[in-house]
Amino acid sequence: MPNKSILVTRSSLPPIEEYISELQSIWGSAWLTNMGPLHQQFEKMVAEYLKVQNISLFTNGHMALELAIQALGLTGEVITTPFTFVSTTHAIVRNGLTPVFCDINPHDYTIDVSKIEALITDKTSAIIPVHVYGNVCDVAAIDCIAKKYGLKVIYDAAHTFGVTVNGRGIGTYGDVSMFSFHATKVFNTIEGGALTFADESYRSKFNNIKNFGITSPENVVTVGSNAKMNEFQAAMGICNLRHIDEQIALRKAVMERYYEHLEGRKGIKLITQQQGVSPNYAYFPVVFDEKVLGKTRDDLCEALKSENIYARKYFYPLTNSFECNEGLYDPNATPVAKYIADRVLTLPLYADLELNDVDRICKTMNLSRFSRQKEQTILDCTG
Ligand SMILES: Cc1ncc(COP(=O)(O)O)c(C=O)c1O
Repeated sequence: MPNKSILVTRSSLPPIEEYISELQSIWGSAWLTNMGPLHQQFEKMVAEYLKVQNISLFTNGHMALELAIQALGLTGEVITTPFTFVSTTHAIVRNGLTPVFCDINPHDYTIDVSKIEALITDKTSAIIPVHVYGNVCDVAAIDCIAKKYGLKVIYDAAHTFGVTVNGRGIGTYGDVSMFSFHATKVFNTIEGGALTFADESYRSKFNNIKNFGITSPENVVTVGSNAKMNEFQAAMGICNLRHIDEQIALRKAVMERYYEHLEGRKGIKLITQQQGVSPNYAYFPVVFDEKVLGKTRDDLCEALKSENIYARKYFYPLTNSFECNEGLYDPNATPVAKYIADRVLTLPLYADLELNDVDRICKTMNLSRFSRQKEQTILDCTG
């Protein structure tokens, strides 16, 4: 019998009876979308969980980001990173703006704040940093730079559902944060997303722009889109939110098992706990140094695949080197991002992953022969 297959992720689902019970209320009201009662209920619940004052729900994270950029009236150039899901870059380009790619730092793979100022021109209107893998950007430094140059900050917080910094919700930093509630995320509404924001006056902007720009039956104030969260999505959100703390605790146990096998091994770099941050254990990226291991990331990916284990090369290629962006940007201008993208593999991590499956994954990679060291691996990203 072939080994059971393990995918990089598996969606969290509530007990089916709970979802059916929410569906019964939809059948009762026959209100399927357009900010119905479940939408309103979920909006309050999720704002409380995320520890934010202001929130607007969307049909998915990408549309939330794209419409936030439109609603804030950004112009010209936007500083961002290429080490992310392609959505971040697409949202900028689809608004007719130019992404200016800043490199990432080799510690947590978020934007390298020491390199932002050199990229600012008189055309720059905003910074869109990414809390990649659930790692928190240097929010204090970004805030200082944004204030100094009068720039807006929209965080791509797709990976940071429920993350707090010293008890403060991650969605309260910057002008706006975008969360994704996609099926593959720590928390899902099947598809879904949200914008959280500091300035209360954004509420009407975001609520209008996701509903065609309509403010009343005879009034349309913006050329908006249709990106409303429907009642079935909200129902899933309400159910999944009841179980989110258990889900995060299960993910933590999986991550800890990986650490037992891999922590400190020469030739690999794991992500580490950030000070003051309460994490959500969204992803388990590992960077492999082929010079020490004698094997590349691709070799390890293939070895896992031959055992029916499907890790993913998140985030490879960089968004500035996809075919749709070919010739427009120089991936070599972000060498750390390139180095990491060429060596990173995201190992399976989800709440239901069994600990003996983690053992199997680590055994297949056969890295236990590499000795442990006390200090964290420092990557030599010069190649
Ligand atoms: C970093 C990042 N940004 C944006 C998105 C887009 O979110 P969604 O899939 O909800 O549209 C995702 C996830 O899919 C993501 O991982």
